[in-house]
Amino acid sequence: MKQQRQQQQQQEVHFSHVDVPSNHFTALFACSQQYTAAIQQTCPLLHVTSSAVGCSMYSRNFPRASLSLGFSFSSLHWQSSSAVWLSRTVNPGCSKTTPEEHAALRAHAISDLSAFLRLRGEEFVPSGLLLLCYVCYSDAVPLSSMAFHDAAQAVAEGMVADGLLQLEDLGSMAGGRRQQQQQQQQQQQQQQAFAAADTWSNAKYRTSTPVYFLDEASQRGVYANVADTWELLSFDIVDNVSPMWREYQEGRASNEQQAAVFVNFWRALMEPFMQQGLARPAAGRSAADFAALLATFFERMTAAALANPQPASYPAARVLLRCAG
Ligand SMILES: C[S@@+](CC[C@H](N)C(=O)[O-])C[C@H]1O[C@@H](n2cnc3c(N)ncnc32)[C@H](O)[C@@H]1O
Repeated sequence: MKQQRQQQQQQEVHFSHVDVPSNHFTALFACSQQYTAAIQQTCPLLHVTSSAVGCSMYSRNFPRASLSLGFSFSSLHWQSSSAVWLSRTVNPGCSKTTPEEHAALRAHAISDLSAFLRLRGEEFVPSGLLLLCYVCYSDAVPLSSMAFHDAAQAVAEGMVADGLLQLEDLGSMAGGRRQQQQQQQQQQQQQQAFAAADTWSNAKYRTSTPVYFLDEASQRGVYANVADTWELLSFDIVDNVSPMWREYQEGRASNEQQAAVFVNFWRALMEPFMQQGLARPAAGRSAADFAALLATFFERMTAAALANPQPASYPAARVLLRCAG
């Protein structure tokens, strides 16, 4: 009886995760089951179910007016497609990424954030709340302060100096190709595509690591533009410090441990793009050559992280929005 009454009183709550279909959904399913069970146990008055949607967040993911609460953590700096061909840097966050490349990346990021908000605006019920946290720049933190991007760049440049890589390889480590002719052709295509804002999602750009960190003014501009759909309840930029960095600073983790976490992070982020760029058939490298290059790169990254530990922190936007409906 008691159980029956409790079931009748239970409020239905359904969580749904969105990630690109190429992600590891087996792991996602496993962890969503675990935390669904944990919430259910702590909140017996809820009936908790969950699902996963294998789809880009830059497309419609849910039926119209079906969501009450949304949370996006550390994903919105990923772009809908690669906007630009980095010519000489291993990541768009390097201080040596050119102003032209930044302009193209920024325009693309503004277009993506706007599209994301427009799409979510269709999916949310009036008064629904959306909390966004993503890596960005604040006015107080200039581009060059992303020290860890420049650390990777310095290692790559050292390998150029030692004759292990070509200068042109640096851009291709971010996934781009480098032959001069193709680059010019690419730039022409980009210019045409940038002129037509609604072609982002269809465009087949050469890949660079498809992430970008928007500056504060650009973000505020986007939120002002969607004010008819989303009421901005709060916006602030916080300094996100990696737990490992904190532990290292407080003496609870060794230099070796912080370096390993730092380099593993880079490996997860960069290796797939290095694979596309440095191991492509046109680069003329065998699988063994590529494996050796990769090993050297990450050995040197480890040595650099040990010799000069980089603060693993980054500015992140924390934005709370209410759907105007
Ligand atoms: C840094 S992880 C954060 C994951 C998770 N929110 C967390 O806090 O652990 C960034 C995630 O964004 C996902 N992602 C990248 N582009 C995406 C897109 N267009 N649509 C949906 N998810 C995307 C990646 O696959 C990755 O899982």
